[in-house]
Amino acid sequence: MISLGIICYQGHSSSAALVKDGKTLGAVSEERFSRKKFDDAFPEKSIEYLTTELGISFEEIDHIAIGWSPRLTILGQLKSLHKKSLRFFLEKREGAKKRSRFNKFFLIANLKNEIKKRYQFKGEISFVDHHLAHAVSAYVQTEKRDGICMVADGMGEFASTSLFEFKGPDARKIYEDHFPHSLGVLYSSATQFLGFTPDSDEFKVMGLAAYSKSLRFNERFKELYRFNENHFELNLKYFEIHKKGNQFFSEAFYELFADVKTESDRMDFARSLQDHLNFIVLGILEKNKSLFHSDSFSASGGVFLNCLLNQKIAESSLFKSYTFFPVADDNGTALGAAQWVQMQAGMEMKKVDHLFLGPGIENIQISSFKNLQHKKISHVSEVAELLAKGKVIAWMQGRMEFGHRSLGNRSILGDPRDKKMKDIINEKVKFREPYRPFAPSFPEGKLQDFYQTDKTSYPFMIETLHAKDVTKELAPAIVHEDGTSRVQTVSSVHSPEFYELLKEFYKLTDCPILLNTSFNINGMPIVLSVDDAVDCFMKTEMDYLVIKDYLLWK
Ligand SMILES: [Fe+2]
Repeated sequence: MISLGIICYQGHSSSAALVKDGKTLGAVSEERFSRKKFDDAFPEKSIEYLTTELGISFEEIDHIAIGWSPRLTILGQLKSLHKKSLRFFLEKREGAKKRSRFNKFFLIANLKNEIKKRYQFKGEISFVDHHLAHAVSAYVQTEKRDGICMVADGMGEFASTSLFEFKGPDARKIYEDHFPHSLGVLYSSATQFLGFTPDSDEFKVMGLAAYSKSLRFNERFKELYRFNENHFELNLKYFEIHKKGNQFFSEAFYELFADVKTESDRMDFARSLQDHLNFIVLGILEKNKSLFHSDSFSASGGVFLNCLLNQKIAESSLFKSYTFFPVADDNGTALGAAQWVQMQAGMEMKKVDHLFLGPGIENIQISSFKNLQHKKISHVSEVAELLAKGKVIAWMQGRMEFGHRSLGNRSILGDPRDKKMKDIINEKVKFREPYRPFAPSFPEGKLQDFYQTDKTSYPFMIETLHAKDVTKELAPAIVHEDGTSRVQTVSSVHSPEFYELLKEFYKLTDCPILLNTSFNINGMPIVLSVDDAVDCFMKTEMDYLVIKDYLLWK
């Protein structure tokens, strides 16, 4: 059985994923082709890639699944139909989210017709509950027969937080909160209050939180929400998003935090927000634990892109095992929807071992890059030597990663032993805020020497860990201000070239760690093609570009 999953028209995501007999063959986001960050257009190029380059023709697809259900939106609206919610539904969002919610709803509701028209598709097309699609993508990663899955985002069709109980292919919702009572709304309101773009810059707030140990705003954050029995509720006096299309927080919120002025205040504010997010999520789990009949936990939805939250959950003793799906934002629902229809058809689901699910590297016409010099690399140790000399290297190998993390196929690499490497990369390439951390990559088997953990495998950079003292001394550039890092272990099977590079760097330096950040300029999508890579390289001050076994420089 072959299923194609789609998500689009949602405001900030457009992706397609292809699953065959339970195994994920490919997944990619449209922004990589269109070069527009958070593009939410129909994933035309993504589908074209999946149905041509992967050797699966459109005629072979049995089922197309869409990771959002218009029917549930209508039911949700009817449930709480009042003037304000209707206005919310009709109003426009700003910037990339220009469509009114009504317009979005109409486009998605019409998706079945659009697909039939575009592709003359004769197979089955179905809408999948958005939170269910999120949940399935995480549950499949657990490889267990049963499990509890938590989903939290701004909102799906109307649900904002859900708990699912999985038993084999059966999923049952055991808990649900509705918009506007939403963890995503709480976090995005705080993001907007700090002057960042909501639904986009939340990771900047997470980066800021690490710079403060003060909980001086904690008492005031308690005003913003409460637990009503086992449910979480926002105090709507402090929020506007359910009334206005683009304003998250209210005047009362602004007044409550009117004294947040300096950078130090902003860090303290972000720290208290993080503290409360951890408290609320663990509170929901704790208060509802009588409903759980499994000790396996998984999570997805945009809120679980927060690695600090994931670390707190993983350190709790509520469950025996914890799995965080790395593409936790809406792009992941394209995959979850395709997996759900496979599960329902009785397919045995296989977890996604790696995220190298996008296009590979096309034939390189190296001589066409007139402004670049080049040579063939005889051994990867040549690249390791350059890194050990402090050079910043753009590194491109194999198929592009699905999701917002570069995991060694479209990465920018640096020597983490130099504390200044963070500033050097920010200056040469990223032009991004100084408080945002850079992540480390390790060859498999080396992690536990440097971080406090019992687990050996962290392939996806979706959890933070506490660094041991030795790490802070050896590789200061990848330990964040709060002593944590968003770690990645690199597999010799899935990333043979990157694994070899790490090994060679270790041989040379006694340091098995490389600083690894995404191959893009701040605000742009990660590079997809050789042309994108060269374009990005030419616009920055990086020292070298490696594509397959070519070394290029200006
Ligand atoms: Fe979502």
